[in-house]
Amino acid sequence: MTYNPELARLGVYDARAPRYTSYPTAVQFTQDVGQDFTQAALSSLPVDIPVSIYIHIPFCERLCWFCACRTQGTKSASPVAAYLERVIAEIDLVAQHLPDGIKAGRIHWGGGTPTILTPEQITYLSTKLEQKIPRTKDAEFSVEIDPTLISQAKIDALVQAGMNRASIGVQDFALKVQNAIGREQSIETTQKCVDMLRRANIASLNMDILYGLPHQTRASVLDTVHHVHALSPDRIALYGYAHVPWMAKRQQLIDEAALPNGEARHDLFQLMSAELQKSGYAPVGIDHFAKTTDSMAVANKNGQLRRNFQGYTTDVMDTLIGLGASSISKYPNGYAQNSAKSSDYTRAIDAGNLATYRGIETSQTDRLIARVIEMIMCDFKVDYPSLKTEFGDDLSCLNTAILYLQKEFGSIIVFSKNGFEIVKHKRIIARLVAKAFDQYIDDNAQFSAVS
Ligand SMILES: C[S@@+](CC[C@H](N)C(=O)[O-])C[C@H]1O[C@@H](n2cnc3c(N)ncnc32)[C@H](O)[C@@H]1O
Ligand code: SF4
Repeated sequence: MTYNPELARLGVYDARAPRYTSYPTAVQFTQDVGQDFTQAALSSLPVDIPVSIYIHIPFCERLCWFCACRTQGTKSASPVAAYLERVIAEIDLVAQHLPDGIKAGRIHWGGGTPTILTPEQITYLSTKLEQKIPRTKDAEFSVEIDPTLISQAKIDALVQAGMNRASIGVQDFALKVQNAIGREQSIETTQKCVDMLRRANIASLNMDILYGLPHQTRASVLDTVHHVHALSPDRIALYGYAHVPWMAKRQQLIDEAALPNGEARHDLFQLMSAELQKSGYAPVGIDHFAKTTDSMAVANKNGQLRRNFQGYTTDVMDTLIGLGASSISKYPNGYAQNSAKSSDYTRAIDAGNLATYRGIETSQTDRLIARVIEMIMCDFKVDYPSLKTEFGDDLSCLNTAILYLQKEFGSIIVFSKNGFEIVKHKRIIARLVAKAFDQYIDDNAQFSAVS
């Protein structure tokens, strides 16, 4: 492993920063935004522009120790069935405020584990959604799938419902690592799931893998990458394990002494990234890889990659309506999040109310900075002329951050009169560069490591 003093000085090994799946980030949400905001935002959407829909299913049969997602474990079917009724009621409520005729261009079911739903529940949910917010002809419908909680009948129901994209969780194939993160999953089980999805002609298959997990070694992560390559997903998300036990209490089960330090994490990422590229995957953003024929690699090449709450996406829609407990919606003028506690969510829906409990109304400056941060995270460069086309000529709110970057990051960011770009082999610092523009950043807040 080679220690790079320049990266150390910049804070790549030990700095922490938001992942910037939104700006302002969720830390800034307040209860000033409630159901009135959502109601007004929904009813003022233009009818001829499709929206994205995200449905959160916050249940899992197993609760993996490493997982920071908002989800709860259950072996019983009744809480899932009761929750599903609330989501369907919420679809009804949201549809009442939407302009008649608006369509869904993207649908994503995430969690938790959406495949905890039975085939009948899958059909029920998709039918109700289609009745209230019908999809466009070319809509993309993606679902997060746990390979240990799937069956042919569930895949048939999902395909029947229109699923054309899937994402499956792998994390790591080494048994020692799996034991240390409380998630067992054999290669055979994963292969079986991939085979079922391929037979169903899924257009794009994503796999999530992680670096920075306990007991990972250079040899073990290469082994995982080789197994993943053999399964041939179209996209791979290579996330850095975010160890945030103060938020995700189940991570307290993880032995911190077995976690790699900042330099070792960085080294594992570089190694896995190089191996994926050797295997024919193009890098996309800070942590994704895609076959060059996949639409994400194509969007990246054409400068059309975007970033939203699900991470990197080819979704260019301005509005994302989040349904279900804790889900976040993005509207042209701000963000709104549903109650995260199932009981609060249930109470709001049962009372016939929208479940928004916090959010933020964005200013024109917020939206300009959001676009700058998105450009940094997606393209590693910022282009002033295109910002001016979108937001007008006054970019002065960026000046302080630009001066700071010129002083601190001048050796690895190239500046010109039309913008700036991070040099190719130092893109790992994107989150730190984005952070320089964040006008809300609280240096005492705790975020995950940047590399
Ligand atoms: C909703 S889960 C995946 C779907 C399904 N429940 C499964 O486990 O296969 C979403 C993904 O978030 C990522 N994730 C969860 N906790 C994480 C953490 N602490 N750090 C980084 N990534 C994490 C994992 O890669 C996981 O596959
Ligand atoms: S990784 Fe997936 S199955 Fe495991 S707890 Fe998280 S959401 Fe549930």
